[in-house]
Amino acid sequence: MILKKGIAGKINVKFKGRINPVTEFDIKAERHIISRIRKKYPMHSIMAEEEQGNKIDSEFCWIIDPLDGTVNYSHHFPVYAVSMALYKKSQPLAGFVHDPEREELFWAAQGMGAFLNKKRIKVSGETKLHRSLLSTGFAYNILTARRNNLGMYARMSKKAQAVRRSGSAALDLCWVACGWLDGYWEYYLAPWDTAAGVLIVAEAGGEISCIDNKKYSIFRNDILASNGKIHHQIKSILNATRMRNR
Ligand code: IPD
Ligand code: CA
Ligand code: CA
Repeated sequence: MILKKGIAGKINVKFKGRINPVTEFDIKAERHIISRIRKKYPMHSIMAEEEQGNKIDSEFCWIIDPLDGTVNYSHHFPVYAVSMALYKKSQPLAGFVHDPEREELFWAAQGMGAFLNKKRIKVSGETKLHRSLLSTGFAYNILTARRNNLGMYARMSKKAQAVRRSGSAALDLCWVACGWLDGYWEYYLAPWDTAAGVLIVAEAGGEISCIDNKKYSIFRNDILASNGKIHHQIKSILNATRMRNR
C-alpha cells in the first residue's frame, strides 16, 4: 500500500552512489515492515537493505528488501516488488515477493511448494536455449565492475530467443518460478535481492546455482536460476564468455 500510493505522487530521491537511488518510500516501507515483524516476533533478527534491523542474534532472521526495483520506481516505471524471507540459520523457511502493481504475491514455504496468490506454480519445461526467454541485470557498479555483464548479455542475446532486463531481481526470480522466464542470471547482488526468490524458484522445481562452480549461498553475489533443463547450457556460455573476456 505504501509503495502503490507513493508511486502515484511526487517521489523524493536521494543517491547512495552515482546511479544508485533511494527514495523516501524505500525507507517508509522498510520501517513499516520492521515494526510489524518486531511486534509479532520480537526475538527474531532482521537484515534489511536501508537501515540495519535489530541486533538480536536469533537463529531466525528476516531478510528484507522493502523496494526491489528502485530505479524503476523512481521513474514511476511500474515494475518493482517487496521481498521478504525468513531464514533459520542458513536455511530458507519461507519467502514472499509482492508485486503491488499486478497484485501478485509469489510465495513459498520450505517443502510445501511455490504459489502465485492461491495457485501453485512451477518452472517451464523448455529444453532449447534458442527458444528460451531469459532475463539479467546490471549492477550499480557497472562502470568499475570486473564483471559488468555486458559481454555476457551480448553473447546470450545471440544464443537465447531473447534476454530481458526487468530492473527487479526479486521479480526475475519469481518469473522464472512461474515459467514466464526460462532462466535468469546476474552478478553483484545482495542477500535481500535473492533471499525470498531462491526459495520460490526451488519450490517451483527450478535450479539455483552460482555462475561458476562454487556452492550457492545468498551471501555469494552471483546467481543463475533456471527451469533446470537449460541450466548447464546457460552456465557454459556465461563461463566461456567470462574466460574470453579476462
Ligand atoms: C536492484 C534490482 C535490479 C538489479 C540490481 C539490484 P534495488 O535492487 O534488483 O534488478 O539489477 O543489481 O541492486 O536497488 O532496486 O533494491
Ligand atoms: Ca534489491
Ligand atoms: Ca531495494
